[in-house]
Amino acid sequence: MARFDQLVFSGVQPTGNLHLGNYLGAIRNFVELQKSYDCIYCVVDLHAITQSVDVWGGPAELTRATREVAAAYIACGIDPKKQIIFNQSRVPEHAELAWVFNCVARIGWLNRMTQFKEKAGKDRENASIGLYDYPVLMAADILVYRATHVPVGDDQKQHLELSRDIAQKFNNDFAQDIARLGHGEGYFPLPEPLIQGPATRVMSLRDGSKKMSKSDPSDYSRINLSDEADAIAQKVRKAKTDPEPLPSEVEGLAGRPEADNLVGIFAALDGVARPDVLKRFGGGQFSTFKNALVDLAVARLGPIGAEMKRLQTDAAYIDAVLKDGAERARARATRVMDEVKDIVGFLR
Ligand code: TYM
Repeated sequence: MARFDQLVFSGVQPTGNLHLGNYLGAIRNFVELQKSYDCIYCVVDLHAITQSVDVWGGPAELTRATREVAAAYIACGIDPKKQIIFNQSRVPEHAELAWVFNCVARIGWLNRMTQFKEKAGKDRENASIGLYDYPVLMAADILVYRATHVPVGDDQKQHLELSRDIAQKFNNDFAQDIARLGHGEGYFPLPEPLIQGPATRVMSLRDGSKKMSKSDPSDYSRINLSDEADAIAQKVRKAKTDPEPLPSEVEGLAGRPEADNLVGIFAALDGVARPDVLKRFGGGQFSTFKNALVDLAVARLGPIGAEMKRLQTDAAYIDAVLKDGAERARARATRVMDEVKDIVGFLR
């Protein structure tokens, strides 16, 4: 396998409200990784339109949400000068490479994707082809930069495995041409998922068996990054729990998904591990723990929400960041796409 420069790539969809799951499962790790890696963070607007228009909200909402995700990246601490922040549709090479990958990926592979099944629901015949193809575009997002590391939440694990399968099959299918053109044994790296921290799967505050999600009809199921302190307090206080006090050991959380979720959220927000949280709150009343969680969540999320709001009033700044990021991203993507064209045999 050829050696690749280490590069981080990840993306967030501009649909609905950004929530605590997106923050703890993904964006917070993006911020950490910029200390040690070269990073590209994308607002994946092409992915956003894969569901029906009433789900993503139409053009004005897409524009608003694109700026909101960019604002969140910056407010959480990603440096847009050092790293690249841009919106996907500005770099057409993502869609171009996705087409080549459509011809590499197998229908059987896509048929196994659980997120498609969840999102398409019962009426699968009526889902868009884009929704079905979503994971192939994701592979193209990553590999059009030959990125090596991909920080995501736990729900994206299967998509990352598919990206690796696509990279591997491309490398095999074109092995001779890749070697002939001097790229060694493999043109694409097999991207590694980075699924890190105590909150890789944040659950709904109303139902510990469901993922916290942008599309849950109940706003009480999630803490949005844009929530004010009193909304955060209300949601945490109303969060579903069980009648037992918190256990002192992690094992005691088994079969108690709501308690487990809140402990995981506390640990992630406080930068500690679950056992540390239980050492502090085990045996005590849930209300004491919830009050501490409110204070912690407000302390951590309040400044981010406020900075997001401030940035969103300056659309010209956000747009300039996205445009500049896209230019830098595109310069890299065209280099890779040109090499892919040579490998496949497209004249250019
Ligand atoms: P999206 O917008 O649905 O989610 C963005 C990130 O947030 C994580 N996440 C969660 N983490 C923990 N708990 C939750 N409840 C939770 N909900 C969401 C997701 O795992 C994700 O990391 N398909 C991607 C977007 C994408 C992408 C890519 C990512 C498109 N191309 C290329 C990496 C590389 C997604 O899930 O977006």
